Amino acid sequence: MGESGNRRILVTGALGQIGMELLFALQNKFGYENVIASDIREPEELSKLEFRYEKLDVLDAKQMESIIRDNKIDEVYHLAALLSATGEKNPQLCWKINMDGLMNVLELAKKYKFRIFAPSSIAVFGADTGKIARQDSPLNPATMYGITKVAGELMAEYYHSTHGVDIRGLRYPGLISWKVMPGGGTTDYAVEIFHKAVASEVYTCFVRGDTKLPMMYMDDAIKATIQLMDAPSENLSIRGGYNLPSLTFTAKELYDKIKEKIPDFECNFVPDHRQEYADSWPDETEGNLSKAEWGFELDFDLDSMCDVMIQSLRQ
Ligand SMILES: NC(=O)c1ccc[n+]([C@@H]2O[C@H](COP(=O)([O-])OP(=O)(O)OC[C@H]3O[C@@H](n4cnc5c(N)ncnc54)[C@H](O)[C@@H]3O)[C@@H](O)[C@H]2O)c1
Repeated sequence: MGESGNRRILVTGALGQIGMELLFALQNKFGYENVIASDIREPEELSKLEFRYEKLDVLDAKQMESIIRDNKIDEVYHLAALLSATGEKNPQLCWKINMDGLMNVLELAKKYKFRIFAPSSIAVFGADTGKIARQDSPLNPATMYGITKVAGELMAEYYHSTHGVDIRGLRYPGLISWKVMPGGGTTDYAVEIFHKAVASEVYTCFVRGDTKLPMMYMDDAIKATIQLMDAPSENLSIRGGYNLPSLTFTAKELYDKIKEKIPDFECNFVPDHRQEYADSWPDETEGNLSKAEWGFELDFDLDSMCDVMIQSLRQ
């Protein structure tokens, strides 16, 4: 614990789409001094005063250990990963970063007894899941990224049951946010479209208009993360990845909703290789267990999410 009695936090992969929002939520909750951001990249010059930073490649277990030991870390939010589209370009590197990185955190948690948040993804599902993904739907992913997320969930359950590691995870849907551009996932079109709409440019969407995927506004994802980490351990029946309730809309429905608010906006649909990954995922997720066990509910629907995205990007 920090001097204030607050938990001491390390975030890996903190400069990414989720990290740059989670960091500030954690700072608000636990205090600036108790939250350390880390990433394989250096932060931009302007961000350097906004958070404590340590450069860390999650494949470097020694460096990870010294940061955790020297700062008496109580909790690691392990966000460093390669996502679906980037991972498919280099599947071996995807396996290495996603699995060896997680293994390094798990082994250190066994030794130093800190808690872990390690996100999973809707990419754990495959074509046999059907349109609605339930908590216990089959997990037969078609991408290397999805395979690493299934293996990560199994590792979480294993380290929890065998070594008592307090690890928790969520199957995030596609996350829509405005602060940082997403890092190479299949659902990135749902963020890119807003940037083009607000810049009065035409957007060429890389999936078909009828493509429907589970999505969520970033604030709901951050809320879910904090709520899950605050939940009493005995309430949790899942360690690998809770399904979350999600928004569900086609790419064309998203375009239509934005066009209601920005009437001149034009979008074409020209699918590329990412269509195949999108086709292998469900349309929506059912998240009853996250509500029953730790009280999670969505705050944003499609309309309010579009309003806040457009307003924020305009500012
Ligand atoms: N964003 C989404 O829509 C989404 C959906 C489902 C799950 N997730 C999961 O959430 C987590 C965070 O995702 P994100 O969207 O912020 O990803 P991102 O790509 O935006 O950020 C990942 C960060 O990890 C860093 N990184 C890569 N290799 C590293 C290494 N070897 N050591 C340290 N850092 C390294 C990158 O520099 C980057 O800043 C990932 O586990 C991802 O699978 C994200």
